[in-house]
Amino acid sequence: MHSINILSIKNLKKSYGSKEVLKGLNLDIPEHSIFGFAGKNGAGKTTTMKLVLGLLRPDEGEIYVCDKKVSFGQTETNKYIGYLPDVPEFYPFMTSSEYLQFCGELCGMDESSVKARSSELLELVGLAGETHRIGSFSRGMKQRLGIAQALLNSPRLLICDEPTSALDPIGRKEILDILYAARGQTTIFFSTHILSDIERICTNVAFLEEGVIALQGDMSTVRGTYPGNEYIIETVLDGDADKLVKAFPELKAVNRNTLVCQEDNGKLSQVLRYMVDNGIPFYKIEREAPSLEDVFMKVIK
Ligand SMILES: Nc1ncnc2c1ncn2[C@@H]1O[C@H](COP(=O)(O)OP(=O)(O)OP(=O)(O)O)[C@@H](O)[C@H]1O
Ligand SMILES: [Mg+2]
Repeated sequence: MHSINILSIKNLKKSYGSKEVLKGLNLDIPEHSIFGFAGKNGAGKTTTMKLVLGLLRPDEGEIYVCDKKVSFGQTETNKYIGYLPDVPEFYPFMTSSEYLQFCGELCGMDESSVKARSSELLELVGLAGETHRIGSFSRGMKQRLGIAQALLNSPRLLICDEPTSALDPIGRKEILDILYAARGQTTIFFSTHILSDIERICTNVAFLEEGVIALQGDMSTVRGTYPGNEYIIETVLDGDADKLVKAFPELKAVNRNTLVCQEDNGKLSQVLRYMVDNGIPFYKIEREAPSLEDVFMKVIK
């Protein structure tokens, strides 16, 4: 099946005064993906998202949402988008369902469909039955309500700007689980500087670095671009690991029975031959898959 790009960004440039933030950014977000947008603080993630929403004027380049061109100051393409900003604001005196009701009326949904959609979404984000006012909500609860609000209009593209950044590990996991659960209804584009969040749920990733996309693709391709060259060797008998380190001082002992071997110049085969010749049994020998963090560090070198 041919898959279309829900969002496509071509040669996007944006400066603030003399500061060039985006220097020719190209990005394609396939439909039904969970797309992680990685970049450190100040890389230009929020700027990119605001350009997609038509809230900022690009200096150069084009943006297409569902094949329609985005124009600065026009809301036309935003009908396809649900947006959760980095610091969402709510009316503290409302309850979650009152808030969703209010948002639904604002975007012209009829009352019965707002009701049905709200209860479905409050269920999804774990706020069904929550009757307290938003003013008393934790940060995590507010983010969850924000996701429900962004999904209210059944958007084809959900954009979340650092939805997990201010949260503790449990709050982060809750948000990631919700985004993962929402993947059937929409395409998800979220920014983060926490690479393990991307590793957890994303199908695709792009690294924003120095104003351009340093690397993008589906997760397995990106990880396969820089395969690791470390092998873990786990021996069975006490003392065998020490024996190996004596014979190959460059092996690193991780613990009593576990060694790390850097594979270069046929080192691994020498170690394996030695193990066979000396009758050293092993539990496992495996290649360490590089983490996204490793890949990122290599890319930005
Ligand atoms: N309105 C503005 N005027 C001037 N400079 C700005 C403005 N908005 C952002 N910048 C600068 O542009 C750069 C990119 O900012 P942006 O907020 O897009 O980064 P970010 O990747 O979202 O960062 P963070 O992870 O901190 O949210 C930063 O150096 C920032 O200081
Ligand atoms: Mg930001």
